[in-house]
Amino acid sequence: MQQNVQPSRPWLGAAIGLAVTVVLLGALVLWRPTTLYLWLKALHVIAVIAWMAGMLYLPRLFVYHCDAPPGSQQSETFKVMERRLLQAIINPAMVVTWVLGLWLAWDAGLFRSGWLHGKLALVLAMSAVHGMFVRYVRDFAADRNRRSQRFYRIINEVPTLLMIGIVILVVVKPF
Ligand code: HEM
Repeated sequence: MQQNVQPSRPWLGAAIGLAVTVVLLGALVLWRPTTLYLWLKALHVIAVIAWMAGMLYLPRLFVYHCDAPPGSQQSETFKVMERRLLQAIINPAMVVTWVLGLWLAWDAGLFRSGWLHGKLALVLAMSAVHGMFVRYVRDFAADRNRRSQRFYRIINEVPTLLMIGIVILVVVKPF
């Protein structure tokens, strides 16, 4: 059967996103505004939003992908969507989030703060879930997914719960 799926270059979107971030960071470091910390915090939050958007959407795609028979047009389209979302948005956004988050913590001397330790533990858990999603994308791409739709519906909630905890810790700073 003829598959009408466009060839993809997901690395291009990721490369452009990372290049724009590097140029912005370079400009900020050269300009050295007194508000540099706030600028980098803004970039951190933008990267966080992109990472979270992908982490909330990708498992929904897995849920729908379970209904598409392997080899079908629908299944091939889901494969492209999953690969592009992962490579063009989720992976680069995670890198930028980590780099800027660690820079903010270092610049503000926050590494002894209890709330940051809690936040880092939850962000590590989020990164581990990210790693699991990479494996699921590979399994779907090779038509060897054996997990149920129910499994993906449950795993779908994990990034949401982690995100709620992370945001409360960094905004409320309860300890
Ligand atoms: C990857 C590791 C991360 C590190 C090391 C980190 C560290 C930081 C630091 C030091 C700040 C500045 C806090 C302040 O100025 O009071 C910050 C701000 C923030 N972070 Fe992160 N972060 C990380 C990931 C995340 C993630 C995954 C999320 C959300 C899911 C997140 C959400 C936020 C938000 C919303 C702010 C702004 C808080 C405010 O200004 O009140 N961060 N982060």
